Amino acid sequence: MRTELAEKRILGVESSCDETAAAVVRGGREVLASVVHSQAPEHALFGGVVPEMAGRSHLQHILPVIDEALADANTRLSEIDAIAVTSRPGLIGSLLVGLSTAKGLAYARGLPLVCVHHIEAHAYAATMETEVDYPCLALVVSGGHTALYRMRGPTALEPLATTLDDAAGEAFDKVAQMLGLGYPGGPEISRLSEHGDPSAVRFPRYRPRDGKPGFSFSGLKTAVLYHLRGQDALAPTPPPEEIERREDVAASFQEAVVDVLVEQTLAAAEAEDFSTVVVTGGVACNPRLRARMTDDAEERGIRAVFPAPAYCSDNAAMIAGLGFHILRAGETASLHADASPR
Ligand code: KG4
Ligand code: ZN
Repeated sequence: MRTELAEKRILGVESSCDETAAAVVRGGREVLASVVHSQAPEHALFGGVVPEMAGRSHLQHILPVIDEALADANTRLSEIDAIAVTSRPGLIGSLLVGLSTAKGLAYARGLPLVCVHHIEAHAYAATMETEVDYPCLALVVSGGHTALYRMRGPTALEPLATTLDDAAGEAFDKVAQMLGLGYPGGPEISRLSEHGDPSAVRFPRYRPRDGKPGFSFSGLKTAVLYHLRGQDALAPTPPPEEIERREDVAASFQEAVVDVLVEQTLAAAEAEDFSTVVVTGGVACNPRLRARMTDDAEERGIRAVFPAPAYCSDNAAMIAGLGFHILRAGETASLHADASPR
């Protein structure tokens, strides 16, 4: 029996970084199941993702995670209409695990295969739960990316601005490490910041010198380092118990990141006359960013849309969701499809 297009169930597979994820989504929007296995505890010992370990861990977890998603969705593999998988960008060894698995399933069941761009899927996540008018502005802010896009539709993203150096999430992770907090650093810093004074330390707010929209976080990271060590570049970073008012440092750092993200995003929205901004990616889980962006946008007559936190960080629902639109456009991939780190 043929399934109506709007009813098609897509199995999504995501393995671009350190989350092994699978999801079943109907009609591009209705999430029947979304399972995420985070490798964070495995990488925490090293303070960041170890690519070699990530690939091996995906290999161990990918089939159980897919089985769990199908069981949660009360769906048999024979009821799936297509397989969508992240093929770029990401860690190549990690991407290949997801892509090979998806190809195997598609081949065995004779199903269409759809390759999904991870960043486009992050942007799509915001529009999966909330209807938006296109074109709108998308801020994708994660551990690997901090960039603004003109979004003309689910599969049409044009880059407008990016970070000149580090991604915001990377800065959260590095500063957390300096403060003796765990990995990933974003959630740790936002928790500690609740008890801190965001105006205690005036950290610099860097932005591109040419006045165009963009981001820069590496100087901020260095400023936090000098704040902790003093001006002696060779001095060791003090142990966490010797850092005075760690919560104030965390809150002041977070405020600097949020200030830059909000200011640059809303300036770009005004310059391009967008009435909606979607904010997505792991850092979009940050409660301070969500509150400040929402309030400041509202003051300027702009609507800020965020996915639920579970769909901000890496997940496969956004892959299956966007995969539906790619399938609908007839853009299926061949079994020769390749993965790419960029
Ligand atoms: O989107 P994501 O799960 O993976 C990438 O594609 O990079 O983003 C992970 C990043 C990490 O750097 C993590 O520290 C950050 O998102 N993050 C946060 C918060 N939760 C996760 N950053 C700030 N505040 C948070 N609450
Ligand atoms: Zn991501």
